[in-house]
Order: sequence, then structure tokens, then C-alpha cells
Amino acid sequence: MNVTVAKSAGFCFGVKRAIDTVYQEIEKGEKVFTLGPIIHNEQVVQELEEKGVQVINSIEELADIKDGTVVIRSHGVSEQVIRQLEKYDIKIVDATCPFVSKIHRIVQEKYREGFQIVIIGNRTHPEVEGINGWCENSAIVLETVSEAESFRPDPQKKLCIVSQTTFNYKKFKDMVDIFEKKSYDILVMNTICNATEERQTEAGTIARQSDAMLVIGGKHSSNTQKLYEICSKECPNTYFIQTLDDLNLELFQSFRSVGITAGASTPNNIIKEVQTYVRHEQ
Ligand code: F3S
Repeated sequence: MNVTVAKSAGFCFGVKRAIDTVYQEIEKGEKVFTLGPIIHNEQVVQELEEKGVQVINSIEELADIKDGTVVIRSHGVSEQVIRQLEKYDIKIVDATCPFVSKIHRIVQEKYREGFQIVIIGNRTHPEVEGINGWCENSAIVLETVSEAESFRPDPQKKLCIVSQTTFNYKKFKDMVDIFEKKSYDILVMNTICNATEERQTEAGTIARQSDAMLVIGGKHSSNTQKLYEICSKECPNTYFIQTLDDLNLELFQSFRSVGITAGASTPNNIIKEVQTYVRHEQ
């Protein structure tokens, strides 16, 4: 059987940077907290927990903590969250991906200039919530083409459109096309991360050429879900797995070619494990 692993599978630059940051803080002997799980991957979060890293889900949990470091994950947070964190006796280490910080700066600047901010993305995703916090939560968040169709902006305001870094590029373009056709006054900032675009394009290409496709990632990882969506369109035998344990190899006996890709928060060892298993169990 022919097994093709996407070159772009696995940790992206921002995720790797955030995890390395947590490890650096552990090495300093600090008590380390992360605001929310550092990435959407249960195995990685568990490994860190074993090293003493504690996930806090709300800032209030810091009230009883007298020292230590809190790491802001790659998704970033709102300005308000940063100001709240600063009130506690705890060191803040910001591991927001620089590509996300760039969106924060654009949104803050354009909002101050009077633009209506439009975020194309998943409205409940922490990255989008964080971005929205840089324009006083005034952004309009649009998730689908039909939402873009029915959106009626304030005619007095120019629109500044940004996207969640992991949004599907084609969908983003389709939504922007709708605004262009309606001749809205828009400033489009394509803030989709290259890593995402490359990963999505490569996954689609491999899926098209494979009898079966494996997408590896955490079940809450939105970029992995999007990869699954893209691959399913190209290859009907696409499977979403978190680890090797979810793999039903019997299903694969009849396939001649299998493609493998993985979300930005999937550690390399899991990808390797799946790849080795698929190769050798045939
Ligand atoms: Fe950053 Fe792109 Fe990853 S925005 S967190 S490098 S997907």
C-alpha cells in the first residue's frame, strides 16, 4: 500500500512556539498555569499536567494564587483579559502567535479609525473571541456564505474584514466576493495563516489522489475539523482520528493508497505512530 504523509501535517510555528514557551517556564522552576488548554490536544495537555502545569479556565481562579506564571496560548486573548491578568501577582507570558497578534493590531487600529470590524470565522472559537476583544466586542462575526448574503451593514461605515487564521480560504474568498458584488465599502485583510492555507491545499491534493484519507487531530480542534471537511469532499473514505487507538485498520485492508494529514496541534509522535502502523500492518 502506498502511504503519503502531508509535509505540512502537525504543529505549526505558533503552536510549537507556545508549547516551547510552557516548557521554558517549567524549566525555570516556576509554577506554570495556562489560560485554557495550551492546545487542542488531550495528550499534550495531559503530558504537561504531569509536569505540574495547571489549566485555568477563568481568570478568577488566579485569585488564590500568590506566585507563578500564566501563559497565554497561541490563540491570544482580548485586551480586557490582559488588563484583568495584570491585576494579579502573577507573571504573564504571552505566547500569542505573532500572526494572531497582527490581527489584534489591525482590528484595534481600524476600529479606532471608525471602521466596522467584520470577522470571518467561527464565533465561539477563542481566537475569534480574543480578536473581537480588540474592538470592544463590536465586531460582526460571520461564519457562512448565507450569513454573508443576508448581512446588511450600516451604510455610513466602511467595513474592515479580517479572518480567523485557520478559516477555509475558499470559503473566505466566496464570502468576500459577496461583499464585492454588493459594492460595499470594504477593506479586506486576508489574515488566514499561510500554514493553514498550505496544510489545507496539500490535504485536499493528497485526499484527491488517495483511496482513503486519515485526518489526525483533537476532536475540539477547529483546524482539524476543517481539514476533515476538505478531505471528505475529495475522498469519501476520510476518517477523523485522535490517536492510533481510534484507527480501525480492517477498514483499510482494501485500499491501495492512504493519505495522512494532521491538524496544527497534533504532535509529531502521534503522526509517526499512525504512519508506521498503517505501513506495517498491511
Ligand atoms: Fe499561528 Fe498560523 Fe499556527 S496563525 S498558531 S502559525 S496556524
